[in-house]
Amino acid sequence: MASDNMTAKIGFIGAGRMAEAMIRGLISEDVYSEDEIIACAPSKATRDRIASELGIAMFKTASDISRLTDVAVIAVKPGHIAGLFTEEKLTFGPKHLVISIAAGIRISTLESYVPDARIVRAMPNHCCMVLEGASGYSGGTRATDRDIELVDRILSSVGLAAEVREDDLDAVTGMSGSSPAFMYMFADAIIDIGKKNGLPGDVAADLVAQSLVGAGRMMLETGMTPKELIDSVCSPGGTTIEGIKVLDEKDMRSTVCEAIEAVIKKSKSMGG
Ligand SMILES: NC(=O)c1ccc[n+]([C@@H]2O[C@H](COP(=O)([O-])OP(=O)(O)OC[C@H]3O[C@@H](n4cnc5c(N)ncnc54)[C@H](OP(=O)(O)O)[C@@H]3O)[C@@H](O)[C@H]2O)c1
Repeated sequence: MASDNMTAKIGFIGAGRMAEAMIRGLISEDVYSEDEIIACAPSKATRDRIASELGIAMFKTASDISRLTDVAVIAVKPGHIAGLFTEEKLTFGPKHLVISIAAGIRISTLESYVPDARIVRAMPNHCCMVLEGASGYSGGTRATDRDIELVDRILSSVGLAAEVREDDLDAVTGMSGSSPAFMYMFADAIIDIGKKNGLPGDVAADLVAQSLVGAGRMMLETGMTPKELIDSVCSPGGTTIEGIKVLDEKDMRSTVCEAIEAVIKKSKSMGG
């Protein structure tokens, strides 16, 4: 239960999809227990749901999080960041490690609001809910090696984490922050065709999902490049090559590149 006397090891400002995914991962991996995590959200509906489903204490304002913990994850929409510091007068001091996961919001912008805090900017993806996240992160001017280690531990507990230059975080947004959505789109199309060809929907969905998992693991575990893996699946005169020919004719590659470039451009344009 929320109480003003409590302290927590980590607090989330915002309790939406990403915060929930990360909190679920952190609890299931025993990085933090329910009573070591707090979060806040303005709407009572979100506070009640998260408190009852995740068993963590919920608060109304970001200032509650800053007051009750030294490690805060900013997980509100990028458009809400300025309001936190200007309208709500949220402050962080030297004791605070602030991990921002807001797409496109630069470390310098955050440091201009809270110059004494230690900032790490991270770009996770929602697959951290099932401990298969992929995140990039970058430390600000005041972040210490211990801060970086802690952020790495938090993000690694919910998937794969890589330290990158801040300038590369826009590309990370395109690579892993947003690309699961494109893979779901791809999956949805394949499942539709499976159903049209007579497969029960649940069987088609399971086959496609497992194929995505398997393809990812092949890339991570065999050390082969995607091109090598494509070649190893496509025997001349076989079935797969027929589909590859269609995707090549329709230039799927350029469409995918355009989509990822659009994400990167948007992420860059959001930077303040
Ligand atoms: N979704 C992704 O796959 C993904 C991936 C990487 C990074 N991100 C980043 O993660 C951040 C959160 O994204 P999301 O998809 O989780 O958004 P979301 O589901 O819309 O959640 C936003 C949360 O912020 C809360 N909120 C709004 N104003 C607030 C305030 N003033 N103080 C405290 N909490 C406030 C909302 O509360 P209510 O519920 O009460 O409205 C909601 O719980 C974004 O900055 C996004 O760029 C998202």
